Amino acid sequence: MHAIDLIRAKRDGGRLEDAQIDWFIDAYTSGTVGDEQAAALLMTIFFRGLDPQELARWTERMIATGERLDLSTLDRPTVDKHSTGGVGDKISLALCPLVAACGAAVPQTAGRGLGHTGGTLDKMESITGWRPDLSHAEADAILRASGAVIRAAGDDLAPADRRLYALRDVTGTVESIPLIASSIMSKKIAEGTSALVLDVKVGSGAFMKDEAQARQLAEAMVGLGAAHGVRTTALLTQMDVPLGRTAGNALEVAEAVEVLAGGGPADVVELTVTLAREMLAVVGLDAVDPANVLAAGRAMDAWRAMVAAQGGDPGAPLPRASEVEVVAAPATGTLRRLDAMALGVAAWRLGAGRARKEDDVSATAGVGWHATVGDRVEAGQPLLELHVDDPARLPAALAALDGALEIGDDPVDPPPLVLARIS
Ligand code: URA
Repeated sequence: MHAIDLIRAKRDGGRLEDAQIDWFIDAYTSGTVGDEQAAALLMTIFFRGLDPQELARWTERMIATGERLDLSTLDRPTVDKHSTGGVGDKISLALCPLVAACGAAVPQTAGRGLGHTGGTLDKMESITGWRPDLSHAEADAILRASGAVIRAAGDDLAPADRRLYALRDVTGTVESIPLIASSIMSKKIAEGTSALVLDVKVGSGAFMKDEAQARQLAEAMVGLGAAHGVRTTALLTQMDVPLGRTAGNALEVAEAVEVLAGGGPADVVELTVTLAREMLAVVGLDAVDPANVLAAGRAMDAWRAMVAAQGGDPGAPLPRASEVEVVAAPATGTLRRLDAMALGVAAWRLGAGRARKEDDVSATAGVGWHATVGDRVEAGQPLLELHVDDPARLPAALAALDGALEIGDDPVDPPPLVLARIS
């Protein structure tokens, strides 16, 4: 086979045969096909898409480049959650132990942040001693003992995705529905979970800016899950307004711990409990109410066990930035807009995110906000906090916040969190 034939076929609106897809995924993963031809093929897919049969085969072959774990011997049903990424999205941190405390096992493979969206592993790494790299045997033992594990996907789970994602990242081909769907689902199916709930973000701070696109992505992923025996449902949730009150690694861990302690911002609590209900329902544990389990402190116990099992000290103080720059509210009235993208970019520029995969992130950098959409604010009150260790980063972060918020006279309701459910 020749890569040029696949590129020409797709470029001209044709479809790829199963054997061509198998050949390409294997050849690119092993390095037989080079970056230039793979980049051209990805760009044709970006413009032409993949039909459902092509997408199914593409994903199946990505899975087949590595191991598919078998968790069927666990004595509890397995269920995972994946978010397509947003600003202030620390939901997994409290959600995984909460669902474990409700009786399911959560075998989460998580990722790192790129650009303005945060990553669960970066957040968890702000806890002293916590480590994401576990062997399958270690992850299995932790899952059996504490009911939840959050870990990095090793090189042996869908390794094709590592190469394809790195190439997409530098060739403008990330925002393609079939390429995102196959990337996410190949890793989730390979990790061995029996069920999956997807949180597909929609809005300024998300990959998918409108609901129609998000729905297409959700439907593609739900279909792939079903085809591989993973019961999958999706919630479309809003990401025009950032979640909670913080964006930044240690800042978000602190907020998740507040939720586990029975407090925390109302939107974070609501989305955590909503996703927990969805996860429990998909594995038939819907008789358990996660709101009660959270209130009883059992999710906090599961969090402590999960963190300690991965080398972390759940009682250690979280690191704090050496400088906090406060931005005051410029007027009195209702906060009518707080733009997720602007806050995410500001946190990123302060050091919370990375521009390239190999960059380090700061545990302490980030943004906090004292009010969210719908809240009343007084001129001069502290509204935003910029946490930073390197003050040279402040001007670029402040520039990102230009035009990020609007204060007006008329009251406004915060947007609904859940926009739709796809199953
Ligand atoms: N997250 C992934 O894992 N893959 C994508 O393509 C986009 C987001």
